[in-house]
Amino acid sequence: MEKLNNISVEELLNRINNDLKNTLSEKRYKHSLGVMKKAEELASIYGIDTNVAKLTGLAHDIGKEFSDEEMLKYAKENNIEVDNVEKVNVGLLHAKIGADICKKKYNFTLEMQNAIKYHTVGNENMDLLAKIIFVADKTEEGRNYKKDEKNEQLQKVRELSKIDINKALLYEIDSSLIYTIQKHKLVHTDSILTRNKLLKDGVNI
Ligand SMILES: [Fe+2]
Ligand SMILES: [Fe+2]
Repeated sequence: MEKLNNISVEELLNRINNDLKNTLSEKRYKHSLGVMKKAEELASIYGIDTNVAKLTGLAHDIGKEFSDEEMLKYAKENNIEVDNVEKVNVGLLHAKIGADICKKKYNFTLEMQNAIKYHTVGNENMDLLAKIIFVADKTEEGRNYKKDEKNEQLQKVRELSKIDINKALLYEIDSSLIYTIQKHKLVHTDSILTRNKLLKDGVNI
């Protein structure tokens, strides 16, 4: 992709970069740059358009710093469905909201919108771009955890991501499901469906 909405990718990256710099916290802004970089790296490994991956990675958390009230208001005003898990964990809505903002503000393609929509809990219809954004979000270079066990898992997903994106995705989903269950938190059914789809497709670790 050279242009989107008749402006060059370079110009659009600059525009999104400025918007994020002005609205996100320093930490989230750096994370966004990290995801852009990782998404570009993975896109070149797996042979998809690096510009598409960069734009999507950069913008993926654009809706992340809304308060719960703002998210629910945005969802209502923009006809975004709030499912039963999102009603409890309102923050999950940042994925659907981010996709909607990018559609309206930057004219992102449906594929790019879906990659943003699926980046938090996954979706059984994820394509290669969506898988790359999901894994880039979890493995960008700025990520690290206080617990050794989580850092070991992170290293494993980083290694797998360079060899087989499906294995990286399955390993990440398994680890986060185990963690969510141990914390006695709600599991989103889309994570289970994504996992089942990978297993049915023959992915193994
Ligand atoms: Fe996110
Ligand atoms: Fe993120």
